[in-house]
Amino acid sequence: MINFKILLVIVLAMISGCGKNDPFVAKRSDYTKAQLADIEDRIKPYSVLNVAGAVELEPVPSMAGEAKYAACSACHGANGGGGVGPQLSGQTSEYIVNRLTQYKNGEKVGSQSNLMWAQAGMLSETDITDLADYVSTL
Ligand code: HEC
Repeated sequence: MINFKILLVIVLAMISGCGKNDPFVAKRSDYTKAQLADIEDRIKPYSVLNVAGAVELEPVPSMAGEAKYAACSACHGANGGGGVGPQLSGQTSEYIVNRLTQYKNGEKVGSQSNLMWAQAGMLSETDITDLADYVSTL
């Protein structure tokens, strides 16, 4: 019985406050035309449906492999030009997939394959194809 009063107060507060003047529920009619146009402009790039009603797919800003390649650039160069590791730019996606798979399986390719075993061991198949797709564009 002690909590009954508190409960009643909460319920009353909910009933009286519900929906009315809720600052988080803005209605379309609360905005001016200029504000609506501004909002429309801002969300346009994220929408697959443009204002005219035509379905239009926006290009993906960058490939997933680009972010993953950050871990490789220290040895292979930001542009794949090589360094501690060999040059990767100019290689095909298939070539990169094959090599990374070999390293992932612990196979010896060159004299320094041990440097790649740990790198490739952490990669999933998706990582490998993402990386290969990106590297082939370098
Ligand atoms: C610690 C330095 C280092 C890092 C980091 C590194 N690599 Fe390597 N990478 C090497 C070395 C050294 C070789 C040559 C290995 C050998 O002798 O077989 C190599 C070889 C390769 C090859 C084969 C090249 C060829 O011409 O056959 C590919 C593909 C490759 N790395 C991709 C990557 C990718 C993708 C990453 C990031 C996930 C990465 N590497 C991270 C050092 C590194």
